[in-house]
Amino acid sequence: MQNAIAVGNRLYLRPLTRADAAALVPWVNDPEVTRTLAVGSRVMDVRAEEVFIEKTNASAHAALFGIVVRGTDQLIGSTGLEQIDFRNQSASLSILIGEKSVWGKGYGTEATALVVQYAFGELHLNRVQLHVYEYNLRAMRVYEKVGFRREGALRQEHVHDGRFWDTVVMAILREEWESVNA
Ligand SMILES: CC(C)(COP(=O)(O)OP(=O)(O)OC[C@H]1O[C@@H](n2cnc3c(N)ncnc32)[C@H](O)[C@@H]1OP(=O)(O)O)[C@@H](O)C(=O)NCCC(=O)NCCS
Repeated sequence: MQNAIAVGNRLYLRPLTRADAAALVPWVNDPEVTRTLAVGSRVMDVRAEEVFIEKTNASAHAALFGIVVRGTDQLIGSTGLEQIDFRNQSASLSILIGEKSVWGKGYGTEATALVVQYAFGELHLNRVQLHVYEYNLRAMRVYEKVGFRREGALRQEHVHDGRFWDTVVMAILREEWESVNA
């Protein structure tokens, strides 16, 4: 393992660096991967991705990690926290597993749990929240498995495939996380 900041059974998280930009670019330009992301599918080249990584790493209000398979050290995606608010002890979580061949193997669930652990254990936050499109049932299932609860919906907030869809708001509180991970 290299520079691990959180370690699970099959995965670990490590900071992303400029050197990872080339691996990330095909993922962030793959409509199948990005169609369910709030950032949408703007085209990114390696230089733009490098700038994004460096800007995020320099921010005190964001944490960006690579999702890496233990043993092989294969980078399969990225995850992290944005809008880290130390006053209110909250942050927003994002995740992207770019290697579609490994979807459905439990990696999304494990990586999400590792970021949540980092948020509560290392950053001492109280709340981790996220937005997920109502048609992204796979992601919603992941968040439920980790312990996120649905708090409500931003009705018809998003256009996709010629119609309006809700954006679902989910969150997990420190006390909820600790009640099952003490
Ligand atoms: C969402 C994402 C992180 C999930 O990662 P993953 O490794 O495939 O997730 P896991 O294997 O841990 O879990 C997937 C769960 O969803 C379930 N699932 C898959 N397709 C589903 C569907 N259409 N409806 C309901 N559940 C579904 C699986 O059965 C599994 O649940 P189970 O363990 O109870 O069987 C990954 O697909 C991804 O990066 N997608 C593109 C980017 C994205 O959408 N990010 C989230 C934005 S909010």
